[in-house]
Amino acid sequence: MLDINNIGVSFGGVHALSNVTFAMPQTGISALIGPNGAGKTTLFNVITGFVTPKEGSVKFDGKEITGFKSEQVFMGGISRTFQNLNIIPELTLRENMYLGFIGKERPSAFATMTRLNRKYWKETSQRIEECMNFVNVTEYADMTPGSVPYGVLKNFELGRAVMSKPRLLLLDEPAAGLNLAEKENLADMVRKIQSMGVCILMVEHDMQFISSLADFVVCLNFGQVIAAGTYAEVRENKEVLRAYLGDEDA
Ligand SMILES: Nc1ncnc2c1ncn2[C@@H]1O[C@H](COP(=O)(O)OP(=O)(O)O)[C@@H](O)[C@H]1O
Ligand SMILES: [Mg+2]
Repeated sequence: MLDINNIGVSFGGVHALSNVTFAMPQTGISALIGPNGAGKTTLFNVITGFVTPKEGSVKFDGKEITGFKSEQVFMGGISRTFQNLNIIPELTLRENMYLGFIGKERPSAFATMTRLNRKYWKETSQRIEECMNFVNVTEYADMTPGSVPYGVLKNFELGRAVMSKPRLLLLDEPAAGLNLAEKENLADMVRKIQSMGVCILMVEHDMQFISSLADFVVCLNFGQVIAAGTYAEVRENKEVLRAYLGDEDA
């Protein structure tokens, strides 16, 4: 599904990623774990065209996407959420939801003005309602994000990311800041999305959260892959324990 090969990224003197190589399975849920500053978000930014790597390549379904612009990556079927919520404060949630779709199909402005595009807008608004319903945010649809609880906004981002019916979905710390009940609810939604045939890669450092979800786990530390395999394999890896516990004897 996703082949990451020898990716290197530097910001000034900081090597955010060095020689990052792994292949994500064709199906299922994979997790990218690692301590703060390990380079997880940077890798998402490389995959989705927000950061250009100084070396290495990214292939999606066997096709080179390194250096693609973020719109091209999105059109190609990769959608994502952001660690820091990325919701326009002046727009309602329903309006923000539309942004998850824009560009995926391009309605002609002329056809819309002359009302020839009724089918497009009808289907789009149905999809918006469907996605809002799926992540349980319908009752907040007409509110702006400032007056909506954080947990609802996290769900909203997930709903917006599936608007475009991606083949690969990247989630950046979807469980961060959620309480236990919200996390369980999120896990159910993630499973449902996966069961629709969407491949998922999520950044998470809550090991508990990924334990029941992820089939394949990659651990980054200081910009390098220190372990990759099943959850059980990675959890027992000595370097992973050390990175997490900061304990030389672990
Ligand atoms: N745009 C940027 N400019 C400079 N340094 C950055 C930038 N983005 C990330 N970094 C640095 O790269 C490293 C990895 O960051 P990040 O990918 O956000 O880690 P993680 O998501 O694993 O917490 C950190 O040292 C961070 O400070
Ligand atoms: Mg991050």
